[in-house]
Amino acid sequence: MAAIPEDYRTRPVAVVGAGTLGRRIALMFATRGGTVRITDPDAAQGKAAVDFAMGQLAEVTSSVDDGVPGEVTYEPEQSQAVADTWLVVEAVPERLELKKSIFAQLDRDCPSDAVVSSNSSSYASRLFTEGLRTSDRMLNTHFYMPPSSTVLDVMSNGNTAQEVIDFVLKSFPDFGLHPFLCHKESTGFILNRIWAAIKREALEVVHEGVSTPQDIDTMYTLNFGTAAGPFRMMDVVGLDVVLDIEKHYAQDNPSLPHGPQTVLEDYIAKGRKGLKSGAGFYDDYPDRDQE
Ligand SMILES: NC(=O)c1ccc[n+]([C@@H]2O[C@H](COP(=O)([O-])OP(=O)(O)OC[C@H]3O[C@@H](n4cnc5c(N)ncnc54)[C@H](O)[C@@H]3O)[C@@H](O)[C@H]2O)c1
Repeated sequence: MAAIPEDYRTRPVAVVGAGTLGRRIALMFATRGGTVRITDPDAAQGKAAVDFAMGQLAEVTSSVDDGVPGEVTYEPEQSQAVADTWLVVEAVPERLELKKSIFAQLDRDCPSDAVVSSNSSSYASRLFTEGLRTSDRMLNTHFYMPPSSTVLDVMSNGNTAQEVIDFVLKSFPDFGLHPFLCHKESTGFILNRIWAAIKREALEVVHEGVSTPQDIDTMYTLNFGTAAGPFRMMDVVGLDVVLDIEKHYAQDNPSLPHGPQTVLEDYIAKGRKGLKSGAGFYDDYPDRDQE
């Protein structure tokens, strides 16, 4: 039987990586009065993450049942950040070798009953936890974009103890989160795969010359009532990132059409990577030099 941190309400959480997702994950776990320590070798990122999370904490806490604002702090040393924690979430860049080395370190440093998870968007945690002493308490917890999205995919590494999975599914809703279990290993988890299919088909429709990004987005938003369509959303994520993700799916499934990658490559070759480069499928983004 794997040990479960039943006293989780009184123990800290650590988030490894202070970037876009790390700071958002930290924010969510600070909504019940506890301490969340963010660790990152880049102190400027650590400070920005604390500012981001503390700046939104009061408002986000008010949307969590029985929420109480806690505290988000920066701790440069990973081994100190994880001391006494009940949960450690890794959110470092999507590089397999980096994830391997972080998890090997966490295997040595984490409390014996802590749950240790990865926010990776494309790697099954099996790939970087296999053979580790404490792999039975390691798994994927893939967040989307908290606090605006509170859903997450939960996936075993193949050796995760059932008690650990049950505990994650039971405890995360205390922090305003909605975890959903992948019943088997799946590249892209659950919602990500469905979103990938929407992006891919939208791009294929453009590649075949059937319609335009602007018309597809307009039809999509009018029909589904969403604020943005797939092309606007791809611009926000970044077309280079969308291309990397699509390539990863294509590696797993060579029968996928190549047209979507061609469309993305054409835009990227023209320097149009989306919002971050000032233009993508759309041109109406603020000039980055004036931001
Ligand atoms: N950006 C997204 O929309 C999104 C969504 C879901 C999941 N993810 C996943 O979350 C993870 C992080 O993505 P992100 O977009 O937040 O990346 P990011 O580049 O914004 O942030 C990564 C952070 O990790 C830090 N870092 C680098 N090496 C480190 C180390 N050894 N120890 C601690 N910190 C280290 C960097 O300094 C940086 O602050 C990735 O696995 C990504 O696939 C991202």
